[in-house]
Amino acid sequence: MRQSPLVVVANRLPIDDSMAPDGAFEWRRSPGGLVSALHPLLRHTPAAWVGWAGGTGPAPDLPDVDGVRMHSVPLTGDDLRDHYEGFANSTLWPLYHDSVEQPEHHRRWWEAYQRVNQRFAEAAAAAAEPGGLVWVQDYHLQLVPGLLRQLRPDLRIGFFLHVPFPPPELFMQLPRRAELLGGMLGADLIGFQRAQAAHNFAQLVAKVLGVPATDRSISVGDRVVRIGAFPIAVDTAEVAALAAEPEVAERASRLRRDLGDPDRVILSVDRMDYTKGIEQRLKAYRELLASGDVKVHDTVLIQVAVRSRDRVAQNQILRDRVEHQVGRINGEFGRVGEPAIHYLSQPVDRTELVALYRIADVMAVTPLRDGMNLVAKEYVAARVDDTGALLLSEFAGAAAELEQAYLVNPHDLEGLKQGLLAALRATPDDVATRMRAMREHLRHNDIRAWARSYLSALDVAGSLPGRLTTTG
Ligand code: ADP
Ligand code: G6P
Repeated sequence: MRQSPLVVVANRLPIDDSMAPDGAFEWRRSPGGLVSALHPLLRHTPAAWVGWAGGTGPAPDLPDVDGVRMHSVPLTGDDLRDHYEGFANSTLWPLYHDSVEQPEHHRRWWEAYQRVNQRFAEAAAAAAEPGGLVWVQDYHLQLVPGLLRQLRPDLRIGFFLHVPFPPPELFMQLPRRAELLGGMLGADLIGFQRAQAAHNFAQLVAKVLGVPATDRSISVGDRVVRIGAFPIAVDTAEVAALAAEPEVAERASRLRRDLGDPDRVILSVDRMDYTKGIEQRLKAYRELLASGDVKVHDTVLIQVAVRSRDRVAQNQILRDRVEHQVGRINGEFGRVGEPAIHYLSQPVDRTELVALYRIADVMAVTPLRDGMNLVAKEYVAARVDDTGALLLSEFAGAAAELEQAYLVNPHDLEGLKQGLLAALRATPDDVATRMRAMREHLRHNDIRAWARSYLSALDVAGSLPGRLTTTG
């Protein structure tokens, strides 16, 4: 196997094998913020990506994608059920998101988690050149840093958690809490989205492992593990350039016309996930329609909720409930040719997505808890003329940076309704002042700045950050 100086290890590869509507097999871009952020960054760099290609067959041999080497790691049906759907997405995911759904604990899931983490660590060890840098991503692979260090002590190892890291009261519920913390400590640098997460981690390490820890560094034997907040970002210039393209502008005007030229368009774009607050948002919208504060003829809500982790029971239940809610609201308030909600459960391509951002007078991003939420940042980056109001949950990581958004607590139905009305009724001056400030922030804090700050903290020799962040 050819080896690379930089290896990203993530549960997902940037491409995913999916079934086309006609039943044929096709490769698609993988869903979610992790791939959206990292894939453009690595493009045309001497990097490799170790991950799962979707499906449960043998690992496919994949061509390079945009010059990046793909190393696929196979998952069996049991791994998919017990590691991916089980420990990763039914134990850790809900627990790390404030337990908004009840996390489940099964010993078989933990065994699968260990086995799959070992497999990823071995694949990463084979893919990295001597003295190379391996960057492990997210909650599916928390044991990989420790396992990899045993296999390849010559490597520099980074770990970045894309989701929230919970407060000690929640994390302490995990039966295998010590092993999970110990696994992460195999890294030289552990990055989180927010300073609070780094603080939670330091407290837990001290409490569970009895190792003295500050919010910046932890001594593990003769090594120092650094920790810190590195809020992830988007490629602001790329989104802005796409938003300014004539094809996107034309698509946007066509969409607005197709919607019947309403006064106000509200947009939400989420994976169908119970952390995203979709039900609460629809409930608020229904009440605004019922009270007459919002009228179907003037205002249109577009809800894009792409299917995600379909076999996780709570997501199935959520999907049924959301589709029932949409049907009910349209039945009660829609008119022929004028539905109250336009609902799409399919992935939309980049051009269509940015065209949607362009027509959205209000972007409603109201998760109950979210590590960052890149949709919110993409929307801001796309509003090149400083129009558009962002309604943002206080519980999204993005709220720490996009302070000028209309901030709401999505658990507070009245507050959510008032926030939505404030965003709908805001004056153009107010909207422009807020948007300008948020765009300015994202211009300076883009995905390249994120990678530069993380990698320069990790790679003390300093050769990789330059190579990564000057290309693309
Ligand atoms: P998460 O990582 O939890 O899915 P984020 O908001 O951080 O949430 O990232 C979602 C990413 O997926 C964004 O880059 C967004 O553009 C993309 N995305 C979300 N929904 C769709 C969709 N229906 N079609 C295409 N891309 C989508
Ligand atoms: C979030 C997670 C990612 C994950 C993505 C999509 O962004 O942080 O690690 O890849 O959701 O979820 P999926 O289960 O489809 O990979």
